[in-house]
Amino acid sequence: MVESITIENPLLEGLQEEKKPESFSMVIFGAHGDLTKRKLIPALYALYLRNHLPENFAVVGSSRTEMTDEQFRATMKDSVIRYGEDIDFKEECWERFAKSLYYRPGNAKEASYYSSLDEDLKEIGKRHGSDSRNIFYLSTPPSLYLPIIENLNSSGLAVKRRSDEPAWPRVVVEKPFGHDLKSALALDEKIHAVLNEHQVYRIDHYLGKETVQNIMCFRFANSIFEPLWNNNYIDHVQITNAETLGVEERGAYYEEAGALKDMIQNHLMQLVALVAMEPPNSLSAEATRDERTKVLKAVRRFDPDRVDSYAVRGQYGAGYVLGNEAIRYRDEDKVASDSNTETFAALKLEIDNWRWAGVPFYIRSGKRLEKRITEIAVHFKAPPHKLFSNMANTGLRSIMADSSPNVLVMKIQPDQGISLKFATKQPGPTTQLRALTMDFKYGTAFGDHTPSAYERLILDSLIGDPSLFARSDFVETSWSLLTPVIEHWAAVSPETKSGSDESIVQGPFPNYEAGSWGPEASNTLIGSTGHSWRVL
Ligand code: BG6
Repeated sequence: MVESITIENPLLEGLQEEKKPESFSMVIFGAHGDLTKRKLIPALYALYLRNHLPENFAVVGSSRTEMTDEQFRATMKDSVIRYGEDIDFKEECWERFAKSLYYRPGNAKEASYYSSLDEDLKEIGKRHGSDSRNIFYLSTPPSLYLPIIENLNSSGLAVKRRSDEPAWPRVVVEKPFGHDLKSALALDEKIHAVLNEHQVYRIDHYLGKETVQNIMCFRFANSIFEPLWNNNYIDHVQITNAETLGVEERGAYYEEAGALKDMIQNHLMQLVALVAMEPPNSLSAEATRDERTKVLKAVRRFDPDRVDSYAVRGQYGAGYVLGNEAIRYRDEDKVASDSNTETFAALKLEIDNWRWAGVPFYIRSGKRLEKRITEIAVHFKAPPHKLFSNMANTGLRSIMADSSPNVLVMKIQPDQGISLKFATKQPGPTTQLRALTMDFKYGTAFGDHTPSAYERLILDSLIGDPSLFARSDFVETSWSLLTPVIEHWAAVSPETKSGSDESIVQGPFPNYEAGSWGPEASNTLIGSTGHSWRVL
């Protein structure tokens, strides 16, 4: 049984409030795309079903494909039934929800589209009482972001507000936010010319995951971990994001992105920030985002001449994943047969501040790996005196062979939870140690339903709470940090050995088998400080 507690700490007050958005009109650009079908409409419907939406609202789909309102509603109904994990589909409820769905086909690059959209929104707004509380969701290919922003501006649909004014209209921007520092800065410049930062919601869906939101609660709502959360007690941190899927139908996009830009620049950097940040003064969006950015700024800049000693890349070859045959990346649809795009990336980060000096953070992300798992493992230091280390006992040796028996693992997915590993005496006449874990499982404690990341993020964007969105300075800091790696990887092919002594040999691609744990270079990277990746 889970006992709920009332938290009196003012820092945590915001956690208990449940707000409902005012009536709104949301325009989804890219309404015929995968994200709308798989995530956005199922999330909106789930919010409706769980009574989180206001009585009056409208959702207007926009894309080039010709469709009537009725056809759009029917397509979205199929999508909700197909992709709405955990959604208890109720016909009668859907019928009510669907009355708020509209569709306006057109070319998002053409100015004329926006004048008719403006007219339509006025009329829809009257019908649904949304009173020009418009929110524009950019779920298109990134090349359309600028034309859409510019057209929203020239048609009068986007209006820049002062930071003390209500943030309507607002814009939600999907990732990728730029493809390097220069393009992210250019995009921000255009957006800020038209909208104030408080009207902009940059999606990083990892921030919407329950297990990710829990990192701050775990750290700052308990008093027993934070005193240990520093270089006196922590030896190193490992963050793993492993996927079994390959690039699916996204070969064209992925060729331009690769693991570093697709996963590390955004999702994994947010995880690093949440694990390493200082406690914020309050839970206000700006206080929490200030701390996330501050710690990212403390990550040591990479030396462009030594990239191969702290960053490794890989690309999957053919193999077997979960018992099924998998083709190599270079044979995937819309992928070049000599592609050097990385499907795996691992980095060693050092954080130059008082708390983290000397504690390496190892992060890795890859496709077509052995298991789907995302976790953060905090490895504590070994006890100062090795009382048990000389005992000729195998169980004991294997525990103490690690740097420490104590590892705290925050399991982001798929088995959500937290576990703490510790050594204990095995009952019996001799002193034999065994490693055990204390486990907290979301499913056991809270039941099956955890809201999807998109449910939470869409709700927050409607309420006007940007805490779980990426602020421009975070995005820019992250791009700037990774620039030496991006530039080195673009300029030097993976099989080229770079000059420095510590550089890790990585290529030629493909350099790991589908269904493995990535290239050998990744083991060499973490081995450089005498560590090894957790066996998952
Ligand atoms: C997306 C990436 O942002 O995140 C995908 O573009 C990746 O390549 C996905 O598969 C992973 O998300 P999740 O929630 O399944 O870990």
